[in-house]
Amino acid sequence: MFRKTTLLAAALMVAVFACTSKKEAEDAAKKSPGPTEAAAPQPETHGTEVKSIELKNPLDPSWVVIGEGIYETKCLACHKLTNEKLVGPGWAGVTKRREPLWIMNMVTNVEMMLETDPEAQKMLEECLVRMPNQNVTQDDARKIIEFMRKNDGEK
Ligand code: HEC
Repeated sequence: MFRKTTLLAAALMVAVFACTSKKEAEDAAKKSPGPTEAAAPQPETHGTEVKSIELKNPLDPSWVVIGEGIYETKCLACHKLTNEKLVGPGWAGVTKRREPLWIMNMVTNVEMMLETDPEAQKMLEECLVRMPNQNVTQDDARKIIEFMRKNDGEK
């Protein structure tokens, strides 16, 4: 542990001395941040952790239809709408046993969930197959949730 820290410190010092002189560092500090440093807007897409979701009451019927379409092309091969397991668990009751945010992240960030979430890991042990990343956008995932809620009897 001690050796690792020392090595890291040594490496850092080498890096600092190798890359910048004091003058260069001062010049860099004076410059205003370039366009690459400005915060770029986050695209609404898969791969970023979803932090919040708003549920609509009543359901949005057009979202239910869109969600169903995505289910048929990307999820139906592994998930039934009953509680019967196929490759993955059946979806009956899924909106009751899981938080909507949890579902959002399971659908858009499955790798992260299988690495860090105990519930997702427990399912993987039961199913023995890793759910693949389906490249679902946050927007599409939200519509799938509407379809799942409908499947669970919400109005
Ligand atoms: C190749 C098979 C496969 C496909 C396709 C697939 N899944 Fe999965 N899914 C799984 C497996 C397997 C699990 C259980 C976790 C694991 O083992 O990785 C799972 C788990 C889930 C869960 C958690 C279920 C629960 O009971 O908590 C949700 C939600 C989910 N998937 C949504 C989706 C959605 C939405 C799609 C389509 C966009 C999809 N899955 C496509 C295999 C798949």
